[in-house]
Amino acid sequence: ALVVRHRMRSSGKWARAMAILQDFEDKCGTPIGKLRQVADAMTVEMHAGLASEGGSKLKMIISYVDNLPSGDEKGLFYALDLGGTNFRVLRVQLGGTDKRVVDQEFDEVSIPPHLMTGSSEALFDYIATALKKFVATEGEGLHPASGRQRELGFTFSFPVRQVSISSGTLIKWTKGFNIEDTVGQDVVGELTKAIEKVGLDMRVSALVNDTIGTLAGGRYYDRDVIAAVILGTGTNAAYVERAHAIPKWHGLLPKSGDMVINMEWGNFRSSHLPLTEYDQALDAESLNPGEQIFEKTISGMYLGDIVRRVLCRMAEEAEFFGDTVPPKLKIPFILRTPDMSAMHHDTSSDLRVVGSKLKDVLEISNTSLKMRKVIVEVCDIVATRGARLSAAGIFGILKKLGRDTIKDGEKQKAVIALDGGLYEHYSKFSSCMESTLKELLGEEVADNIVIQHSNDGSGIGAALLAASHSQYLGVDES
Ligand code: GLC
Repeated sequence: ALVVRHRMRSSGKWARAMAILQDFEDKCGTPIGKLRQVADAMTVEMHAGLASEGGSKLKMIISYVDNLPSGDEKGLFYALDLGGTNFRVLRVQLGGTDKRVVDQEFDEVSIPPHLMTGSSEALFDYIATALKKFVATEGEGLHPASGRQRELGFTFSFPVRQVSISSGTLIKWTKGFNIEDTVGQDVVGELTKAIEKVGLDMRVSALVNDTIGTLAGGRYYDRDVIAAVILGTGTNAAYVERAHAIPKWHGLLPKSGDMVINMEWGNFRSSHLPLTEYDQALDAESLNPGEQIFEKTISGMYLGDIVRRVLCRMAEEAEFFGDTVPPKLKIPFILRTPDMSAMHHDTSSDLRVVGSKLKDVLEISNTSLKMRKVIVEVCDIVATRGARLSAAGIFGILKKLGRDTIKDGEKQKAVIALDGGLYEHYSKFSSCMESTLKELLGEEVADNIVIQHSNDGSGIGAALLAASHSQYLGVDES
């Protein structure tokens, strides 16, 4: 009798765990009709954000980039890419139309976590110091023409109110950053101060978001690139808009007629988004409550933590991992999206990768195969929702541009440049995003839309924009 009762008790717990899982799955549902509503809401907000400053949660930031790279950019340029957990410095020799990128060198430096929430000065001093070190490695072939100041394209992947192509003030931090005294400051001014302090002779010629850099880098190789999307630590998109379709733009109509817009779509929100109590808790406990809701359901900084929160609930309310809650499971952000991805992609019959991740990351051992399958299921629910929502966002942009249908039987190719660690390394995520976009577009239109991985295009893109906004434009090389 004792054995039977014990079994019943544990099967009751299992049923409770399954109920939590089922409820989560239901609330994360993204049927195609819902995705269409999300896409429509996205286009509505795009219009509102373009109409007036503050007209929408979507900031639709004017980038001051009205001319994308053509290929004839020439010279040596630097780029600095700050936005995730690492920053990259890049030196590139541009050879013009026929030669393109003649040579490039880069270095990647990780940002000590305390600098992400410390002072503005400390962060920019750290960056300038690393930049100086990199500049010191300029080789024989890779140095600027004599007598010329070095020029830099600064990729700064946060919402910035651009004042010109080479200046702009930080609206707010996102992702893991939170440094109060930078908000409202001109980030080029901050960087320039630090550059001068370390005694480096360098000028910031272009300030761009990573989406803008990726768009520029993508366009350099392919004329059909019309938009860029980042799926990484954060998520965002930029696209080429017709300047006359931007009511809030009061400047001159650019010669090209175009203006690139940084959407800051991470801050999109809509009643159509399938949000759960786990998302609400994650948001409430985040560095930026109430902000970046779309980003918090999609991007790499958050997906792993959503999984952790669901598992934690199952541990607390259904004793999923035994009669105590594994203490590590309560630590925010301990389960990173790369860990989640590794578990999700585990193809071994006994799910041993899941087992070892649980052990190494969460100090949970002795899980049964049945339990591991449940954990993979949680990963699948979270990744699928994020991937399908990001596809809906892209579909929203294509709708705004009228690229969601075939006009007059004309098949016009459009390329979307994609980058970011989530897109690059989480293949179940990227393939789900791509198949969902096809599903939304329908077969015939989908044939004309190409998703192109633009590997670290944002660094090259920033260097290219520095080149096309160089102080030496039109000045002879010699
Ligand atoms: C965050 C930033 C945005 C950036 C994106 C991807 O959403 O606010 O500027 O483009 O992350 O890095």
